[in-house]
Amino acid sequence: MGGLDEAFIQAPEHRPKTNLADSGDFAFSDEIPTIDLSSLKDPDCDKTAIATEIAEACERWGFFQVINHGLPFDLRRWVEKAAADFFDLPMVEKRRVKRDAVNPMGYHDEEHTKNVRDWKEVFDFFLQDSTIAPATPEPEDTELIKLTNQWPQSPSDFREICQEYAREVEKLAFKLLELISISLGLPGDRFTGYFKEQTSFLRFNHYPPCPNPDLALGVGRHKDGGALTVLAQDTVGGLQVGRRSDGRWISVKPIPDALIINIGNCMQVWTNDKYWSAEHRVVVNTSKERFSIPFFFFPSHETSIEPLEELISEENPPCYKRYNWGKFFVSRNRSDYKKLQVENIQI
Ligand code: SIN
Ligand code: FE2
Repeated sequence: MGGLDEAFIQAPEHRPKTNLADSGDFAFSDEIPTIDLSSLKDPDCDKTAIATEIAEACERWGFFQVINHGLPFDLRRWVEKAAADFFDLPMVEKRRVKRDAVNPMGYHDEEHTKNVRDWKEVFDFFLQDSTIAPATPEPEDTELIKLTNQWPQSPSDFREICQEYAREVEKLAFKLLELISISLGLPGDRFTGYFKEQTSFLRFNHYPPCPNPDLALGVGRHKDGGALTVLAQDTVGGLQVGRRSDGRWISVKPIPDALIINIGNCMQVWTNDKYWSAEHRVVVNTSKERFSIPFFFFPSHETSIEPLEELISEENPPCYKRYNWGKFFVSRNRSDYKKLQVENIQI
């Protein structure tokens, strides 16, 4: 087993067949659509053409890349550098902001996906740094989501850069939400109300080179739980998406400065399976470290997640039962969220 700690070893059926340094199975694919958002710069533009492309991507893949998305390149460079500088700190420094039972955000290097340890370290922070109570607490649901962050002392401008990036990526997420809404034939603001007190957070991922990339994964296979994810990845590559039609793993081709968008479980439920929350995973390699920055666009605590009335009918009855986002989110942080799994969706 090459000395790799057992905790990282995937079951044989989930191991990647080879590593990224080889081509073959891991050759990058450009099957996942790339959508150009440049026309959105004109406030009077007709959004339906882009919405049509988005509809097709969300139905077939649940994943697409966007270019000319308006997120400033300089800001992206700064946040990428801040993340790399943070991960470069001595472990004792990083552990000063370690996530624990009281602090749900901060540094963490023992993330597990489906009970197998991921080959990575992370830093998380909430977009809205406050503590909110559920609007309609149920008896067993009095626990608050504590939206509190922990910030390292170094790099000195870390917090400022993180928060500026978060504001920009949030703007883009709302634009995408509008386009998705239009793409479903709904008013552009159909989903906006669900995000008034959003529980969204940003994550910095660092995947160090791995001695056994054929046994471990940077992130094991999973679906994202929220509404949307907006991911900035570097040029190393490693993200693989399960194709909706046959489940085959497709390696997403890194496009410099593009952002990867994927549909999460909430959107799949709202659209009653029209749009697809795709399973994905990250493969690692022996020689190159990789960084990525996902923004998890999560609704407000009190949001009910259920198929939208407008999208169900007698011929298309609801595929999912209603669940409460906050309840799901809080119990997820307590890591006993299995009982709240949405029917038919493995989270
Ligand atoms: C994730 O899905 O959690 C991470 C994706 C990536 O690093 O590309
Ligand atoms: Fe993910």
